[in-house]
Amino acid sequence: MRLRLENIHTIYGIQKGPSALKKGKDLSHVDTIHNAFIDIEKNEIVAVGSMDQVEGYADKYMDCTGKSILPGWCDSHTHIIFATSRHGEYRMRIGGKSYEEIAEAGGGILNSAAKLREMDEAELYDSAAQRVEELIKTGTVLLEIKSGYGLSPKSELTMLRIARKLDASYPIKIKSTFLGAHAIPEWYKNDRKAYIKEICDVMLPQIAKEQLADYCDVFCDKGFFTVEESRIILQKAKTFGLRPKIHANELAVSGGVQLACEMDALSCDHLEAMGQEEIDVLLKHDTIPVVLPGTSFYLNIPYAPARKMIDQGVGLAIASDYNPGSTPSGNMELLMSLACIKMKLSPEEAFNGITINGACALEEEQEYGSIAVGKKAHLIMTTPIQDLAQLSYFYGKSHVENVILGTKIY
Ligand code: NIG
Ligand code: FE
Repeated sequence: MRLRLENIHTIYGIQKGPSALKKGKDLSHVDTIHNAFIDIEKNEIVAVGSMDQVEGYADKYMDCTGKSILPGWCDSHTHIIFATSRHGEYRMRIGGKSYEEIAEAGGGILNSAAKLREMDEAELYDSAAQRVEELIKTGTVLLEIKSGYGLSPKSELTMLRIARKLDASYPIKIKSTFLGAHAIPEWYKNDRKAYIKEICDVMLPQIAKEQLADYCDVFCDKGFFTVEESRIILQKAKTFGLRPKIHANELAVSGGVQLACEMDALSCDHLEAMGQEEIDVLLKHDTIPVVLPGTSFYLNIPYAPARKMIDQGVGLAIASDYNPGSTPSGNMELLMSLACIKMKLSPEEAFNGITINGACALEEEQEYGSIAVGKKAHLIMTTPIQDLAQLSYFYGKSHVENVILGTKIY
């Protein structure tokens, strides 16, 4: 079956040349075709061009007059498998408590972990599935999900099995990351080493055996895991073929960026606390910085210096960090607004950050993140827009009219 999207006002995110991370000045380029068509067979784009280049017939036609087509969003950092909302902590933060103070008082990650361990697996799956559906409707087609609210071998593995089941059950692609080192569970409070040993000798071997994760992450930050502890875990993960990703420099200049580069991590995420030294290291390595403007907005903390990083030639991705504590939202359009307004990115830089560069932060850039023959036909049809800037200009509004997943409309 061949589906033809025709009379498209503008296609944004055309891939000219090989799919690769956009860095520095290149981040402000978004290639377009006006008055265009796209032919889709199964899940793949089989032809794309301007209307005067259309050849042959399709089996089904979709008239896109006035509408634009974009690649679906690529969200490379989420924690969407969780038991319940933490609105009590939200009230505490509004009342003046910081994220760290709440965590120290037993709230935060440990609170989510306690609730998750009590929850029935089927219920946990259903609540995560609802979030996946919500994200697909907002245009996300490539998604990463982390564990890290289990903190026991049984619950961490349960989370990762749920992530794999979600991937198998939905038409979008979902990659999983093991984040056992998200916090030290209460019962290991006085024996951190024992927990790290459990991660290395119990959790990682089992995860590798069942192929439950694509990556291994560590929360390398003040009050969580040190650089030395993170290195031990990530080195072990590498022996099982799990490439590192690191939560780095959210709460302090933690050394996490340097560790990520030293370990050839795929990405280092957060980066709200960055100095010039950290930017210099990133410039010399392939580790992709991932910034999370939703977290800064929600926790009311500084934003990652994304403008400065791009001006110096860095290539970065933008992700949601959707989780119940620091960012209960996966709305990528809103992230574009925050990236533009708070980080001073251009609409094109923000767009590339949540499309092609997001795909690179999950090693899926050959199939996702831009539009070209051979790439996945996982696309967004927008409401009428005259300029890419309108996606972030009308903040808080959805411009997603339809999500096209292969020949099906979601
Ligand atoms: O990425 N920073 C660490 N982990 C999450 C927050 C987790 C939570 O508060 O539940 C994050 O922001
Ligand atoms: Fe996170």
